[in-house]
Amino acid sequence: MAVLNVNIDHVATVRQARLADEPDPVWAAVQCELAGANGITVHLRQDRRHINDRDVHVLKGTVACKLNLEMCMAEPIVKIAEQVRPDQVTLVPENRAELTTEGGLDCARYKRRLAQVVKRMHKKGILVSTFIAPEDEQIIASAETGCDAIELHTGMYANARSEKAAGRRLAELAAGKDLAIDRKLVVHAGHGLTYRNIGPVASIPDLCEFNIGHSIIARAVLLGIRQATEQMIELIEKANPKPSA
Ligand code: PXP
Repeated sequence: MAVLNVNIDHVATVRQARLADEPDPVWAAVQCELAGANGITVHLRQDRRHINDRDVHVLKGTVACKLNLEMCMAEPIVKIAEQVRPDQVTLVPENRAELTTEGGLDCARYKRRLAQVVKRMHKKGILVSTFIAPEDEQIIASAETGCDAIELHTGMYANARSEKAAGRRLAELAAGKDLAIDRKLVVHAGHGLTYRNIGPVASIPDLCEFNIGHSIIARAVLLGIRQATEQMIELIEKANPKPSA
């Protein structure tokens, strides 16, 4: 059965909107872990637009489940991973202008660099996964460079405009998964997965981990806003109680 890693980047995005110290993604990680998450995923971007170095270090010291660090292969970021030693890194491409990770990593094109990074991560006992499109050459390059896992990019499935198109994308994901398993890779999946579209992907056999962020954080805001409002009203009323009749 597949398990869930919650991507908590958006919690840090809200914090950064005010350059404040709340909400703390570390507190969010604790809640996700208490709810049964298999792991916590954070993306330490080069521009530090949400998760920062402090978050990654504190998460490493507090997360008892799996800590999955999403990152590009730029040297300063690779060095941080070597210091922090998360349980797993998921290697992604990074483009400064993007809203979120857009395509998969081109493992075939960057095979030499990928092999170096895999070796360095393994030296520190860190598992390596690559975030890739379900394409044979990317899966084969991941296997040939010694990666432990791949994360199949589910964005094309999530964005499919018809059931037929979604069915085609699901078939590609399933075929990619089969090839990856043949090549001894563990298979994860993620990007764009929601409460509405998770069912068909989750029923593909032998997928091991899902990385889901946006949809969970979006729902968390809506589930929590009522209680948060009630608590603030309570404080306002307590500070200036209405005179009793
Ligand atoms: N997997 C990877 C590699 C990602 O870059 C992201 C987005 O940060 C996710 C999964 C989660 O995607 P979403 O936020 O759409 O659930």
